[in-house]
Amino acid sequence: MIILGIDTSCDETSVAVCQDNRVLSNKIWSQAILHSKFGGVYPTLAKREHQEKIDFIIKKALNQAKTDIEDIDIIAVTVGPGLAPALEVGIAKAKEISQKYKKPIFPINHLEGHILSPFVSSSNKWSIPKIKSKFPAFGLVISGGNTIFVYTEKIGKYKVLAETSDDALGEALDKGARLLGLGYPGGPVLEKMAQLKEKTTKEENPLPLPFAQEKQNRKISYSGLKTALVRLVEKIESLKGNLNKTDIINLSYFYQDRAFTHLTRTIKPIVDLYEAKTLLVGGGVAANLEIRKRLRKIAKEKNIEIMFPENKKICSDNAAMIAFTAYIKKTTESIKPKEINKIERIPNLKI
Ligand code: KG4
Repeated sequence: MIILGIDTSCDETSVAVCQDNRVLSNKIWSQAILHSKFGGVYPTLAKREHQEKIDFIIKKALNQAKTDIEDIDIIAVTVGPGLAPALEVGIAKAKEISQKYKKPIFPINHLEGHILSPFVSSSNKWSIPKIKSKFPAFGLVISGGNTIFVYTEKIGKYKVLAETSDDALGEALDKGARLLGLGYPGGPVLEKMAQLKEKTTKEENPLPLPFAQEKQNRKISYSGLKTALVRLVEKIESLKGNLNKTDIINLSYFYQDRAFTHLTRTIKPIVDLYEAKTLLVGGGVAANLEIRKRLRKIAKEKNIEIMFPENKKICSDNAAMIAFTAYIKKTTESIKPKEINKIERIPNLKI
């Protein structure tokens, strides 16, 4: 089965071709530079860029996969969650191809794509029985648009255990980085800055740990942490003028540390409440080495296996995970194609 995957949920135009469980191509056109001057994604600009690039990216994906569009068996397209004007472009293109070449469309939830992304591979090593053997599992999506922790008994069945109540983790990192003048997307630069910090013993983090909710369905909020950073920057600036490089390195380290501690402190006690074999981690922030280290520690303590995407490209928004999710769900019969006029964007789609 040849699958054409399309994802235009945010600021990446991505198209992939999979042959069953093997990724043949995964093309991504990032708009990050365009949005950097706004310090975040500007929706109407994202839509225009997707419209301009999508045909070119489809062509590149098909060429690399050495596949003709007539040979595609199914189309998998992200219908949500995401930015409405951006989602619209990928869905419209999927419908156009579907009508022209008579191919069925499978609408895919972007969050499910991230949860299953650790199985995405250009080799065919993840057979369906092997994938099934990793369940029940925890799924953790840490991206620019979402922070969600779920329990999944089997593919297609998800129970939300914790999620963000305001900014997603990546968004919080981006906002902190912007405040420190590090540009957009800020997560990777903040990580590099934090790595430059020379740790001294007995060092107090001057930023407070955000308030943690103790109940089930925990909400993860970063608004207090952001405000604390704003205040701290103002204080330093009022005392000695602009931040210098050492200030920026220190603040990057402290801010990232607090943001990650808040996440791990929220999910750690929940892990004890469920029987799971695996912790599946996806989303742009999953590329961060520090968060990987901390999540590995939790998995080790709880004696569960932890799985991350094969490479950075699969952590970030990409269409290979969308095509792959369609493959897994179609093969396990947990999804059916949808009539073209019933497919629409669902910006706030839940898992
Ligand atoms: O999954 P993703 O590509 O899509 C969106 O939801 O937009 O995630 C993008 C997010 C951004 O917030 C970016 O700053 C963050 O992932 N990110 C990182 C790293 N690489 C990307 N955050 C921390 N460390 C990284 N190495």
